Amino acid sequence: ASAAGTVHDLAGRHVVVSAGGTRERLDPVRFLGNRSSGRQGYALARAAVARGAEVTLIAANVDLPDPAGVKVVRVESTADLRDAVLSATAGADAVVMAAAPADFRPTELSDVKIKKADDGSAPSITLQQNPDILKEISTHRARAEAVIVGFAAETGDATGSVLDLARAKLARKGCDLLVVNDVSGGAVFGSTDNEAVILGADGSVVDVPHGTKSALSHLIWDQVVARLS
Ligand code: CTP
Ligand code: CA
Repeated sequence: ASAAGTVHDLAGRHVVVSAGGTRERLDPVRFLGNRSSGRQGYALARAAVARGAEVTLIAANVDLPDPAGVKVVRVESTADLRDAVLSATAGADAVVMAAAPADFRPTELSDVKIKKADDGSAPSITLQQNPDILKEISTHRARAEAVIVGFAAETGDATGSVLDLARAKLARKGCDLLVVNDVSGGAVFGSTDNEAVILGADGSVVDVPHGTKSALSHLIWDQVVARLS
């Protein structure tokens, strides 16, 4: 059961997908954000609809039209995303965190625009860490049988290869599947195509050749379906 999306193997299932990049306000005109386009999450939502699922798509600052047949919830910050994910996951069979949440937020939000000083100086901005939504929903599961999927873009570093870091991240998060993009050769952000490895907490490794985000989406749903009870 895969590819074309003609198989209704998600019929009767409720799935939640997050997409896009969250923004953290600094003052009324500025924010900290990232370049996630939301395309992978939207492709996942469309693929799930094609396979018969009821889909809730939580979209953080995505500039794309709502996919047909999907309930779209729009959010801005990581705190908003957390609220929306926690309320949507209560009755969900699967949750896929394709969004790129901002890891940090300014400790203080200025209610007036931060002005520049004449002496050429710049303000220091203190940040604090945002809650880890994937870790939270994986370690405190609303439904024990729900399948939880994370995403990771890794480059590999002095401490380990892309796959070493991804395995460690999968274990740290406590999710069931982790979709890993190797971004050492250049950015995947905003592109239409993808290449990935899908790691399972059970030790499974599925290599996904270079292809469309739709093709990757269907391979991810194949892995989810195989784990649904
Ligand atoms: N994630 C999340 N909440 C956060 C940060 C990340 O739910 N505050 C989710 C992402 O949606 C993704 C997965 O966790 O599915 C991995 O995101 P990533 O940024 O790679 O993980 P981090 O733990 O933030 O690690 P890093 O320091 O590498 O950014
Ligand atoms: Ca992060």
